[in-house]
This record gives sequence, C-alpha cells and structure tokens, in this order.
Amino acid sequence: MAVSLYVVFALAATALGASIGPSENLVLEKSSCGRVWVTVHSPEIRLGQSMTLLDAVELNWDFHGCFNEPKQIGLFDGRPLSWDSALTIFPVSSVEGHVVTNMSLGLGTLPAGWEAGVGTKGPHCLWPWVASGTANEIQSFNCLKIQPTWMEDAGSKINNLRIGDLAIAGTHNAGAWKFNTEVSSVSRDSFVLCQDRSIWGQLVHGIRYFDFRIAYYEFYQNVEDRYWLNHNLIRVRPLVPLLREIRAFLDATNEVVFLDAHHFPVGFYQPQGAPIRAVHEGLLQIVQRELGPHLARANEFGTGVGTKGPTLQTLINAKKRLLFSYADNTIVSQNSWLWPILPHLWANTNSATELFQYLDNAIASSPHPGARSPLFSAMAQTTPTVLDILFLRGSLRENADDVNRNVTMRLATRWRTRANIISTDFFLGSDVVDLSIMISEERASRL
Ligand SMILES: *[C@@H]1O[C@H](CO)[C@@H](O)[C@H](O)[C@H]1NC(C)=O
Ligand SMILES: *[C@@H]1O[C@H](CO)[C@@H](O)[C@H](O)[C@H]1NC(C)=O
Repeated sequence: MAVSLYVVFALAATALGASIGPSENLVLEKSSCGRVWVTVHSPEIRLGQSMTLLDAVELNWDFHGCFNEPKQIGLFDGRPLSWDSALTIFPVSSVEGHVVTNMSLGLGTLPAGWEAGVGTKGPHCLWPWVASGTANEIQSFNCLKIQPTWMEDAGSKINNLRIGDLAIAGTHNAGAWKFNTEVSSVSRDSFVLCQDRSIWGQLVHGIRYFDFRIAYYEFYQNVEDRYWLNHNLIRVRPLVPLLREIRAFLDATNEVVFLDAHHFPVGFYQPQGAPIRAVHEGLLQIVQRELGPHLARANEFGTGVGTKGPTLQTLINAKKRLLFSYADNTIVSQNSWLWPILPHLWANTNSATELFQYLDNAIASSPHPGARSPLFSAMAQTTPTVLDILFLRGSLRENADDVNRNVTMRLATRWRTRANIISTDFFLGSDVVDLSIMISEERASRL
C-alpha cells in the first residue's frame, strides 16, 4: 500500500501535459523520495507583546520508504530550482513531521484568474513552495495549490468510479466562514467559524462536499432572506448568495458537487418535532430556482439501497452535476429528487485520541450494507463541550490544528482504501484535497 504513494507522480503533468506536451515546467509536485507538502497553520501565533502571525506557512514531510532520507526542507516563493533561492531552510531528522515557518500566507489570493471569476483549468500554485533533499540536490518539491478542475483533469482516469468509491475533500459547517449579518463581519473568532475560505474559494481549492446547517428566521419580509447558514443557534451568513457561488462554479466547470443540508437548527420544526412543511418547501423551492438545471435527481440517478450510486461519467453525460442530500426522511419521502440522509461519522468528542479511535472503526465498517445514501462523510474534527466554550478553553482553530495533520496521515494510510468524504475544519491545515485526488485515481486504476 505504501509503495503506490511514493511512486513518482506529477499531478499537473498528467492532465495538462497530455495536451500541451511534457514539460518540467508544468510539474507542480515531484516526489522522488517521499512526499512534501505545504499547509496553513490555523491558529494565530504570538510573536511578541503586540505582534501576531496569522496563517503561517507550514512545511510537511513524509519520507517513509526512502532509502536515503532527505536531510533538509525549505520554503520557496517560486519553483524550487536551487537551495540558493530558499527563503528559509530547516534540517530534517525524522521520517515524518512538519515545521511552522514564520512567514504568513498573506491574502491567499487565488491564482490563474480564479480570484475574480472563472480562471484557467488545471492545478495552479499560490506563492509558497516546499522542497526537500540533500545539501546538493533538490529531490522533491510541491506547492500550495488550487485544484479548480481536478475531476475534469483526472476525468480519463476517474470517470468510471461510482460516487461512493471516490475520495472527496469536504468541509464541515462549510458556510461558517465569515460573519455576514446586520451586526457582524468578523472573520476570526473562537467557537463559531469553522472555515476561512468563501464557498467559491473552497470550490476552487478542490472541495466538492459542503455540510450546510440551515436556519429559518421568519422576521424577514422576503422569503428568500429568511434562510441562513448557522453554526447551531448562531446566524452566520445568508444562504442564497452561497447557492449562487455554487451555481457560478457549476456553470463554468464540469465538476460534480455534493451539497448536504445536514441540520436545521432554527425554524424548521414544531416544538414537538414535526417538520414545518412550508419552511422546508420554501427552502426546496429556492434550491430548485438557484441550482435547478444542474440538479441530479435521486429518483433518476440513484442506484438503490446498499449501492455506490452513479458513476461520474453518468452525471457528466447527463449534465446533472449537483447532488443535494437532505437530513429529513419525511421530506425526502415526499420529494423524490432529494438524496437521502448522508451518514456523518461523527465522534462527538473533544478528545483527538477518541476522535481517531472512533473514525478508524467507523470508516472500516462503512458504508453500512443497508445504507440508503451512496455517500458517507467522516467528520474529522473535534467538538468543543459547552464548558470548553463557557471557559474559552481552546478554539476551533486550535482544535483543527490538533487533528488536521493526523487526518492527512490517516487518509494516506488506514483510511486509504475505504474513506469516501473527509470533512475538515480549516481545510488548508491538511493535505486532504491532493491526497483524495491521488486516492481516487488509485481506486480507479483497480477497476
Ligand atoms: C524567521 O525565521 C528565520 C529563520 O527561519 C529567521 O532568520 C528570521 O529572523 C525570522 N524572522 C522573524 C521576524 O522572526
Ligand atoms: C498525531 O500524530 C502525531 C505524530 O505522528 C502523534 O504523535 C500523535 O499522537 C497523533 N495524535 C493522535 C490524537 O492520534
């Protein structure tokens, strides 16, 4: 299993190289011995009394299986051609590990035209690059990248995979990324915000699964203003603009996106627990209006209980590339186009150790043979307790930092054969996007 991970591969060359001609300049990742990758440190770092460093760039390595282990790792602001151009170099003495640099990612502007709208296909690098090797030679390199069209780029390899057999990077509480309410536009806090990239930014980085928590507030006059994305009881952003970001992305690409209305914390249920029909109907109408032409209806594309769903090719051929799953079986039974409840493997613990014990078992025994949904999502984040929040113990950013590197390593090893969707907080702290692309290609190669 480990061997396939360390084969020389070139993410960019595979898709682009085929049409443009092989060129070393198109290779964004080279792994001649082990892998290196760039992540973003989610908590802020205090540098002194009044100085804090946000979004520090991290360099990561995994040299398992290398005969000659690399001796150093460095950060570069362009393609690493020689150690002379490194911004900083660190000695390496362990087989796997990471270092946190004192350089900030900065704005994280999306390259290749994707910041302002639709850009150029294929993976593209942000400014930070990492390289490893000996004092004389750079052996491996990689960059922090966007993967705006990874499904299409890898299409010739992965299109025959069923959606339940893909590995997919997802985001937990995807809409909780920056307050946009009448009273707040805060972008960093302790216990509400789980993400720091817009929905558009998440899509461009390669996220294809969104866990949405939708709430309803009757006091707005217009029906469409009443639907919000929440984190539990806290209102974060209005829903409709986010659906439009997804629509713009689907209009401009051939990617497949999975949207999961997973929790309805406010306004969707009677006090006794019965669904309020009109509120659910209102949401379904908005989703149909905004995303209608792209919706893959469950009654047309579903493949039945205990199966892995349609292939990517089926969805692409039909030009139906949005699957909307809904966490209320009563509503699903009345609206045959909705995909059934998408199981979340949720440990509900504030302990990282318990999280991994739980997920190791839960992923190994998923999907359930009688599953109605072809998909399942490993919720790879810890959950603070009420007391954690009350006493301001830690923060969601620190919690994410405690687990995201281990999520990367677990996905590369134990979870590699079975994981489907992996949903994280502050996803740039892990390498789940690139790893899941590799794993999907690997699974497809065994078909
Ligand atoms: C950042 O780290 C480098 C070593 O990697 C060091 O030379 C430099 O002084 C540090 N800069 C700051 C502002 O701490
Ligand atoms: C995370 O990974 C590190 C490094 O391999 C390890 O020391 C630590 O115990 C892991 N944490 C958990 C909770 O598994």
